[in-house]
Amino acid sequence: MAERTEVVFVDGARTPFGRAGEKGQYWNTRADDLVVKAMVGLLERHPELPKDRVEEVAIAATTQVGDQALTIGRSAAILAGLPKSVPGYAIDRMCSGAMTAVTNVAGAIAFGAIDVAIAGGVEHMGRHPLDGAFVDPNPRFVAEQLVSPDALNMGVTAERLHDRFPQLTKERADAYAVNSQRKTAEAYAAGKIQPDLVPVAIRTGEGWGLATRDEGMRPETSLEGLQGLKTPFRPHGRVTAATSSPLTDGATASIIASADAARELGLPAKMRLVSFAFAGVEPEVMGLGPVPSTEKALRKAGLSIGDIGLFELNEAFAVQVLSLLDHFGIADDDPRVNQWGGALAVGHPLASSGVRLMMQLARQFEEHPEVRYGLTAMCVGLGQGGSVIWENPNYDGKKH
Ligand SMILES: CC(C)(COP(=O)(O)OP(=O)(O)OC[C@H]1O[C@@H](n2cnc3c(N)ncnc32)[C@H](O)[C@@H]1OP(=O)(O)O)[C@@H](O)C(=O)NCCC(=O)NCCS
Repeated sequence: MAERTEVVFVDGARTPFGRAGEKGQYWNTRADDLVVKAMVGLLERHPELPKDRVEEVAIAATTQVGDQALTIGRSAAILAGLPKSVPGYAIDRMCSGAMTAVTNVAGAIAFGAIDVAIAGGVEHMGRHPLDGAFVDPNPRFVAEQLVSPDALNMGVTAERLHDRFPQLTKERADAYAVNSQRKTAEAYAAGKIQPDLVPVAIRTGEGWGLATRDEGMRPETSLEGLQGLKTPFRPHGRVTAATSSPLTDGATASIIASADAARELGLPAKMRLVSFAFAGVEPEVMGLGPVPSTEKALRKAGLSIGDIGLFELNEAFAVQVLSLLDHFGIADDDPRVNQWGGALAVGHPLASSGVRLMMQLARQFEEHPEVRYGLTAMCVGLGQGGSVIWENPNYDGKKH
């Protein structure tokens, strides 16, 4: 492999996630203010980083209109108080927007074009619903049968995974969802998730308030409670609100740097980037996307799945995570997977979720010096997957 500059994940922070919609905590909050808040909170944690050393701001949003428009990386940089000399741009790869922001700036760092960047994402799904008012799909998609007309409905693609893999039963998906809610509740009780949350001042019907927690969590979730739930994506289907990530508002930000710049500036290096890959699958079964992207990222790293000690998988749908676990022969409740639960509980504000996975993996690396490699992976609309493999700088080479 050619010589390249080592890239590290310095740190990440996010807003608490909110339930999308009028009753949600961010209904009266602008999307761009959410990502600016995450960026400011993150930069405040790192006074050792001079603001003019940030050389790029890459911010993702799936819907780039209204308060998510205006080249959000650039506008957020200005709003966050970065010097006007710091450039920025907007990114869209739907659910993996923030992941793509990280890998893009990492590529620029590895190439030697820049040393330090901010990468993140935002999605205010309350203000920018999934069925996107301004989307105008090309009629050729349907006329030439390039993709099925409902391949853009993510819930329908999840139902199709159940069809394609009969061993991925509703019972397994339900059990997975209960487990995810339980693990998130336990992580909250142990105070593991809160340190990376930047509180956001909010305006609700009751006046001013402060968002400090993820709003979508349903710690009371039980297997019995899931039995009667509707299947919104197909009559008599298998995917329910409990086995789908809820519609969510939220934003994430991370600092990505060359290892040399991090050392020079005294910045932490919470994870070392090993490899990354994106891959495409049939859009009708988009949830399978992280399977080929993970295989490719492993190949690029010269690793096998057995080398991965911790997994942070985005839970767009329970069945979609199970399809990856089955593919790699990993048990549904494997303790290496999503130790703090996942998107089924905290939500999935599309273009921001990739950095949430990374922040959590970075924290788990600190707790697990026996683990050398970790994987962050997610599925992406229109049939894609994204995977990033990270190395734990705390790895002590011992079996614990
Ligand atoms: C699945 C979906 C349609 C549900 O939307 P919704 O109906 O507004 O969701 P709600 O939160 O109101 O939940 C629906 C019902 O299930 C219940 N429910 C949800 N999660 C539950 C849980 N964990 N345990 C028990 N009940 C639960 C709710 O209480 C509600 O019950 P009610 O109808 O009696 O009030 C929506 O969340 C969705 O579209 N998710 C997918 C988003 C997506 O595609 N993202 C991109 C991924 S690639």
